[in-house]
Parts: sequence; C-alpha cells; structure tokens
Amino acid sequence: MPLLHIDHLKTYYKTLRGDVKAVDGVTLDVEKGEALGLAGESGCGKTTLALSVIRLLPDNGRIVGGSVFFDSTDITKLDSETYRKEYRWKRMSMVFQGAMNALTPVYRVGDQIAEAILCHEEVEEDEARGRARELLGLVGVDPERASSYPHELSGGMRQRVMIAMALANNPEFIIADEPITALDVIVQAQVLHVINDLRRKLGLTMMLITHDLSVIAETCDGAAIMYAGKLVERGTVIDIFKRPLHPYTQGLVGSFPSIRGARKEMESIPGSPPNLLQPPPGCRFHPRCPHAMDICSREEPPLVEVEPGHLAACWLCEGG
Ligand SMILES: Nc1ncnc2c1ncn2[C@@H]1O[C@H](COP(=O)(O)OP(=O)(O)OP(=O)(O)O)[C@@H](O)[C@H]1O
Ligand SMILES: [Mg+2]
Repeated sequence: MPLLHIDHLKTYYKTLRGDVKAVDGVTLDVEKGEALGLAGESGCGKTTLALSVIRLLPDNGRIVGGSVFFDSTDITKLDSETYRKEYRWKRMSMVFQGAMNALTPVYRVGDQIAEAILCHEEVEEDEARGRARELLGLVGVDPERASSYPHELSGGMRQRVMIAMALANNPEFIIADEPITALDVIVQAQVLHVINDLRRKLGLTMMLITHDLSVIAETCDGAAIMYAGKLVERGTVIDIFKRPLHPYTQGLVGSFPSIRGARKEMESIPGSPPNLLQPPPGCRFHPRCPHAMDICSREEPPLVEVEPGHLAACWLCEGG
C-alpha cells in the first residue's frame, strides 16, 4: 500500500454561480519515500487537492466524493478531533502557497516555531525553543535568527522558516505548495537544495506542487500532471519527460526548454483551461487538443496504466 492513496477524490467549492469542480475524481498514489511533483496550469486544482488531503479547505469547499488513505486509514472519514490529534502536523504537514508572507509580523520567528511545537506536543517551553533553533539550523538558517522578526529576514529565509514550521512535529509526509515560486532564481536554487537535503536526512515522503516542470525534474522521483480538476498523467520523472503520453503533458514538456535552461511559463499550448463551473464533456482537454477525435468530446477517458507505473487518461493511449 502506498503511504498516500487518493481514490476518486472530488472536492467542490460552492459559489453563487454553482459548484466549482476543482478536484473531480482524482486517483493518485504517493509511495513511501517518494518525492512526487504535481504540476498543471494555474487553477487546475493542485492546491485544492493538497488542502483536501490536509483537511484545511476554505468554508465553501467540500469533499463530495472519494477517499484519501494515509498509511491505510481513510482520513476523510476520521472525526476532526482524531485527525487533528493524530495526523495533521504530526504525521503530515504542509507548506502553504504564499505562506512566507503569512508569518505573524509581531512575533520572533523562533517563538513562532516553538509555538507550533507547543501546540501539538507536551514539552517545556525551553525545550520547544531549543528545538526551534535546531529546526532553523536544519533548514540552513543561523539559529541566532530565532530572535528576529519576520520583516528582518529575506524572502528565502522566511520560506525556510515556514519549512521549519512544517517540520516542527516530525511529520513523515509533507506537502509543499509552490515553495519557491515567489523567490528569485538564485534563492530558488538554495531553497530547493534545502528541500532535497531534508528529504534525504529525514527520509520524508513529499508532494511538491509547482507549475514549473524544471523544479520537478531537479527534485522529484515521480510526476503527476493535472488538467482542469483531473489527473491526466502519472509516472516517474523519466516517463513524464522522456515519453509523455497525454497531449497536454506533451504540450507542457514541449514548452519547457531544458532542465538547466531558462524557466518559462507553460505558454505553448494554445487556448486556456475551461471554467470549472461547467467543464466540457468528455476529455476536458479536447477543445485544446491537437489530436482530438470524436470520442474525446463525448466520453471521458479512463486513467489507465499504459506501461508499468506510467498512467494516462487519453483515448489515444487506451488499448494502444
Ligand atoms: N474558495 C474558493 N471558492 C471558489 N472557487 C475556488 C476557491 N478556491 C479555489 N477555487 C477555484 O478552484 C479551482 C482550483 O483552484 P486551485 O487553487 O486548487 O488551483 P491551483 O492549481 O492550485 O492554481 P495555482 O497554480 O494558481 O495555485 C480554480 O478554478 C479556482 O478558481
Ligand atoms: Mg495553487
């Protein structure tokens, strides 16, 4: 059994104009010890998938179907008290998108990390402070910085503090949502290095969300591609980059110059993703797909294992 098994998960947001089907039947496994990169254009449901797993959806968001198994337990069925006590922050945690700007400005960063420890473990304050300093060291920030306020730190340091906070209770699984997007290129490389290093040192299982395929190529073992609330492809990094099966993945990989080359947005796929209030029938990518056939606008392609460990949801792959 994989450490995380997401099974036909559907998460919708209620809005005045109807339900936004942000995650609409996603099945995805993350193996123990794997670093999985999750990519897809803005608005395809990456953050919603993560927030569903960590059970921190906004008020109008609901899991309306499917399950999330963590270490064989369906965590969507746990009462919130049990989930909070045994899972969130303890066994699994998350670095939120844009979180480095969410540190509380009036508290020293060491105290904020210590607070995260004290919230979930019964330890003395001094011990929590000591651990906060250790955690800062672990993410490559001078422990003396524990007494700094957030505004005294650079963006890269603040992001490291957020990573330290996510690690405060020794989780085995961590989701990092666009952890380097807001940083400049040199600092991006440094923070990625920290993430890689932590993975090795702590044996973490990880889901790294990014719209930047070069980050996945540099950091991850596996890759999963989402489009308009659906998973369209899943495989190893080599599968996805060397032999992408889904035309959407092919478009993304085609718009991605080279692993070491300049980073750029996914711009080579004409058109834009559909409105998730009323996604198109059949394959959601068909209006933009250069290979669309009749069936693509009528029936949704199932996610099938085309080669061992390499799955795609595309009628071109089905049976072929
Ligand atoms: N609270 C909300 N209420 C209504 N719709 C929402 C809410 N949050 C997100 N959405 C919608 O759900 C869809 C998925 O959003 P989500 O934030 O999960 O995408 P994403 O892949 O993380 O995008 P990005 O790359 O921009 O971070 C989008 O259509 C978005 O507009
Ligand atoms: Mg997001």
